[in-house]
Amino acid sequence: MRHIISPLDFTVDELDKLLDLANDIEKRPEHYRHACDGKKIATLFYEPSTRTRLSFESAMLNLGGNVIGFSSANSSSAAKGESVGDTIRVISSFADIAAIRHPKEGAAQVAADHSYIPVINAGDGGHQHPTQTLTDLLTIRSLKGRLSNMTIGLCGDLKFGRTVHSLINSLVRYPGIKFILVSPPELKIPSYTRENVLDKNQIPYVEVENLDEVIGDMDILYMTRVQRERFFSEEEYLRLKDRYILDAAKMAMAKEDMLVLHPLPRVNEISTEIDKDPRAVYFKQVQYGVYVRMALILTLLDIKVD
Ligand code: NCD
Repeated sequence: MRHIISPLDFTVDELDKLLDLANDIEKRPEHYRHACDGKKIATLFYEPSTRTRLSFESAMLNLGGNVIGFSSANSSSAAKGESVGDTIRVISSFADIAAIRHPKEGAAQVAADHSYIPVINAGDGGHQHPTQTLTDLLTIRSLKGRLSNMTIGLCGDLKFGRTVHSLINSLVRYPGIKFILVSPPELKIPSYTRENVLDKNQIPYVEVENLDEVIGDMDILYMTRVQRERFFSEEEYLRLKDRYILDAAKMAMAKEDMLVLHPLPRVNEISTEIDKDPRAVYFKQVQYGVYVRMALILTLLDIKVD
């Protein structure tokens, strides 16, 4: 039995196969319509979500399966004090696979340790968000044709943004990747990512504060929301929240084929005037998220469709 807690739980080879499967699902969805007949996914969401939860549910429904679950800690027995370990043991009797989102770092690993069914980490605190990374990789590979030899800009809340941590962890495994990390000093990537991931793998990167100076060098610009819920002080959040706003003037300085990604939800960091720019692919990215979650469900349940 396999779980996905971190994007590194799959080798680069396995990831390639998963992304190939997602592309095949995109091409001929009807072929997969009954692949999960009779199967159920449980979505256990202890933290708010729109996209991730609904895209798991949509993925399972597209495969012919069914969905059970809860969308807030208050509506589950967590409110009575039940542990994640006990909840997942119980859910193992109800469903074939589970996706869990939790505000505490490490909660998905605890669930996996107690589970009798495959567990998917749908975000654990400020730590990891592997299925968003699969979505990001599929988007980049499908639209750029490669995952290697690229300059990737990440901008915004690089400290608390779990999508950023998972994406950096994953991309360092491809050759010729450089990072431009754009954030205020308070929201730089955590030192464990800098030391254990970037430095350890000898990955070229720069850390800067000013987006205008570097946007012209990027092949991908991954914008992120300032993660209000992970701040200790509201004052600090208010001071930093509108530090970066991607607008038409900034896009005019970018390469003609630079792609703008964002895990969403967007707050103010991308002006809506950018939405019609063909380089803005964050809504396409959402669609790729459904294909890749379909591919992941099939892979973890070991279901093959010829
Ligand atoms: C992200 C998350 O939950 O970490 N959202 C998502 O799953 N697409 C990003 C965010 O909340 O800013």
